[in-house]
Amino acid sequence: MGPSAHSGALRTVAQAACGAFRPSPILVDVPLAKPKVAFVCQQCGFDSPKWIGRCPQCDGWNTFVEERVVPAPKGRDGSVRSPRAAIPLSDVPDSAEDRIPTGIGELDRVLGGGIVPGSLVLLGGDPGIGKSSLLMQASGHVAARGRVLYVSGEESAAQVKLRTRRFGIDRDGILLLPETDLSTVIETIRSTKPILVVVDSIQTMTSDAIGSAAGGVSQLRECAARLLEVAKGEEVPIFLIGHVTKEGAVAGPRVLEHIVDAVLYLEGERFHSFRVLRATKDRFGSTDEVGVFEMGERGLTEVADPSGVFLEERGRGVPGSVVVPTLEGTRPLLVEVQALVAPTSFGLPRRTANGADLQRVILLLAVLGKRAGLSLGQHDVYVNFVGGLRVREPATDLAVAVAIASALRDRPADPRAVFVGELGLGGEVRRVQRLGARLREAERLGFERAIVPAASARDLDGTPLEIVAVKDLREAVLRAGVSDGGRST
Ligand SMILES: Nc1ncnc2c1ncn2[C@@H]1O[C@H](COP(=O)(O)OP(=O)(O)OP(=O)(O)O)[C@@H](O)[C@H]1O
Ligand SMILES: [Mg+2]
Ligand SMILES: [Zn+2]
Repeated sequence: MGPSAHSGALRTVAQAACGAFRPSPILVDVPLAKPKVAFVCQQCGFDSPKWIGRCPQCDGWNTFVEERVVPAPKGRDGSVRSPRAAIPLSDVPDSAEDRIPTGIGELDRVLGGGIVPGSLVLLGGDPGIGKSSLLMQASGHVAARGRVLYVSGEESAAQVKLRTRRFGIDRDGILLLPETDLSTVIETIRSTKPILVVVDSIQTMTSDAIGSAAGGVSQLRECAARLLEVAKGEEVPIFLIGHVTKEGAVAGPRVLEHIVDAVLYLEGERFHSFRVLRATKDRFGSTDEVGVFEMGERGLTEVADPSGVFLEERGRGVPGSVVVPTLEGTRPLLVEVQALVAPTSFGLPRRTANGADLQRVILLLAVLGKRAGLSLGQHDVYVNFVGGLRVREPATDLAVAVAIASALRDRPADPRAVFVGELGLGGEVRRVQRLGARLREAERLGFERAIVPAASARDLDGTPLEIVAVKDLREAVLRAGVSDGGRST
């Protein structure tokens, strides 16, 4: 570290303290933090005085980047609020009723009924998935009630305007701020007093208190922490859009996820039109609800009957196709799982999973081989959840396994039946949650039979579906009509 680098850092902090920020009584009490040069893990925010190859906190390799770090002090953001006094809990006003509806039912559902005033919400998602679209559409609705500040550090005003025109949003209530400087953003929030702020994206924001580049962990932490102060201080909800790394987490994930009140993820496959919005953290409600959208010319539209849509293009009687009633949050959702099995032409057999967890599929292949006598060691296996949905529920195990068995045998599974159950390593079919709700959804969509875990079948009190209770995978494969012996009932 050269002496010039050091003095440069000092100057930045000094400028920040006397230039960009308004002096406040708090500033006087807080000694200026000395910036230090440190190596910061870009994955989890762990910092170390020297470069290390592997992060001791998150086990990431080559994740350390040199950053100029200013330990985040309290109240240095120029806020002029006086120190808060303790108040009796009973005197705290009930704010549950004050939630601001976003005008998008599926988004409100995931937020637990609307936006909580003063909350800081992170929306993550892959590039191009529709994050800006969703929040611009929400802004359009909220602007009917008051001013919305949309900060765009990523796109020019003209680009944003193009999108709003495509969506048919035409509101004076939306203020657009193409800006990446955090202090300017905060000043604008204070001077314009919006009822909602969107920061698109948090990775483009820079605070001049930190010398390192935009998007680095120190910058992210600093910017998010200061925006949190503003959200609480001004009682204005702020949405942060965050990019997702290749590993599928918002860059500097733990750093941001700890700071914000709620974390939402918008997911889907790039070349499919369906998008699922889910909450992975919510300080104000459950993380159980999901929203389902379809991406189109006019932005994201809510999908009222996701099961119906997901099954729309199902090829009945096709080997390898099986329908599973999965639970997305508290909502039952019917999805088709497709498997394709082909002899391996050379080398190692391939395993590909779209929407399913590849490790889980590999495990299911082992269970199929060992417990159902269906060996796939010489076959390539492809598994796909139709519609681009990412499904992680173990209750879909049985459907995936039966789809693979059906593809291997080249015999269609019973097209009138749904399959649900978790598989154990012994091939046993395990109990699933809320079987009744799943089966009602299957019945609504015209299914007639359900292959379910024997243990869960006992809990059922009445269903119009024909119930086939199975104890293990071998039995399920037999009852699915895909085994060698042909159809059995
Ligand atoms: N004219 C159009 N008609 C239909 N869909 C479009 C059109 N233009 C863009 N899209 C869709 O919108 C997506 C981009 O949406 P949006 O900009 O909201 O995503 P984002 O998550 O904010 O992306 P980024 O990570 O680049 O900021 C594109 O991937 C495409 O699917
Ligand atoms: Mg965007
Ligand atoms: Zn780490």
